[in-house]
Amino acid sequence: MLMRDLHTGVACLDSLRRPLRDLRISVTDRCNLRCTYCMPGEVFGRDFVFLRHADLLSFEEIVRVARQCIALGVRKIRLSGGEPLLRHGIERLVEMLARLCDNDGKPIELAMTSNGTLLAKKARALKDAGLMRLNISLDALDEDIFRRITGNRVSPEAVLEGIAAAEAVGLTPVKVNAVIKRGVNESEILPLVRRFRHSGVIMRFIEYMDVGNTNGWRLDDVVSAGEILALIEREYPLVPIASLTEGEGVAERWALQDGSGEIGVITSVTQAFCHTCSRLRLSTDGKLYTCLFATDGIDLRTLIRAQPGDEVALRQHITAVWRSRADRYSQLRHEMTEALSGRIEMSYIGG
Ligand code: GTP
Ligand code: 5AD
Ligand code: SF4
Ligand code: SF4
Repeated sequence: MLMRDLHTGVACLDSLRRPLRDLRISVTDRCNLRCTYCMPGEVFGRDFVFLRHADLLSFEEIVRVARQCIALGVRKIRLSGGEPLLRHGIERLVEMLARLCDNDGKPIELAMTSNGTLLAKKARALKDAGLMRLNISLDALDEDIFRRITGNRVSPEAVLEGIAAAEAVGLTPVKVNAVIKRGVNESEILPLVRRFRHSGVIMRFIEYMDVGNTNGWRLDDVVSAGEILALIEREYPLVPIASLTEGEGVAERWALQDGSGEIGVITSVTQAFCHTCSRLRLSTDGKLYTCLFATDGIDLRTLIRAQPGDEVALRQHITAVWRSRADRYSQLRHEMTEALSGRIEMSYIGG
């Protein structure tokens, strides 16, 4: 490790020369929904053992990691879960992270991905604490389809109320994410586009991915972004929106030609975006994952707890992890022949 780099602001590049820009922090492995592709009820039932409180990184520990990641180039922090709003006192963590600035004194972009069901109560407090943006998952407007996907626990109305609350307090632009699975919710694509036209909400459709071990993924289940766009085009002609910077986000952006809104598609399966991937993930129990599909995390918690004040050691450790990173799973997916056993769950690492 070059000590010089720690202080000169030289970008920290991985082995494929990708800078570290985004940090996704999972704050809980729990969720109040049981989406079939993420935490199916049969697996995540009453007997499932979630992490104990002592295993979770404390807010102070999370902030220590965030601060060092920022020093290494992180400009955007996204809180996720499980469902991040289930973490007790989450507003306090938001407040602590919102105070962090980059090396030029600019605040870090602070966002959250949530299922929206608890948002009606929490949106105001999150905004006041300094949260800037929210992405909210909503796979269907139809009550039956929504309940079938999410484990029959709440109505889509609860999510719509959450979206309205986020907009009302200015956590905008709100992005709504729908994972599209063949035979399950392709019929919801057009209703979702229609519902959010003229609202300022950006509706994004996500190709169903083979994350974790529990979703029994098959390529046949994937509705490609190409198919999704073709379906939307039949009713609403689309024009591409050029991305300002490469790697700015994972979504391909499109405007509805009539000016009524923006949609996005996330092509994780059919058009991998690994070459610009600048995301590092911190799991609830303090492991670093350099890819959504990584099999093993790198433990930071032991170091954090053994050396409470040693920020240099912490930064060196993160630097070493990022520098040796070579992940490009989505690009390699088609070449992979081995059985994909042992992958971590998305609810644990955060999407
Ligand atoms: P913004 O662009 O900042 O709004 O957020 P985002 O799209 O990065 O975050 P969000 O949590 O809304 O993720 C949307 C979808 O993109 C989810 O299905 C993620 O799993 C997927 N996604 C996000 N990051 C990655 C990634 O690094 N690799 C892959 N393959 N998919 C990702
Ligand atoms: N494929 C694609 N997206 C997924 N998400 C969760 N599991 C999958 C999967 N297997 C999405 C959630 C949420 C985001 C963080 O990740 O629906 O919108
Ligand atoms: Fe919960 Fe989101 Fe996973 Fe659904 S996809 S079970 S809402 S963490
Ligand atoms: Fe990044 Fe891994 Fe996703 Fe590729 S598969 S974009 S390397 S997280």
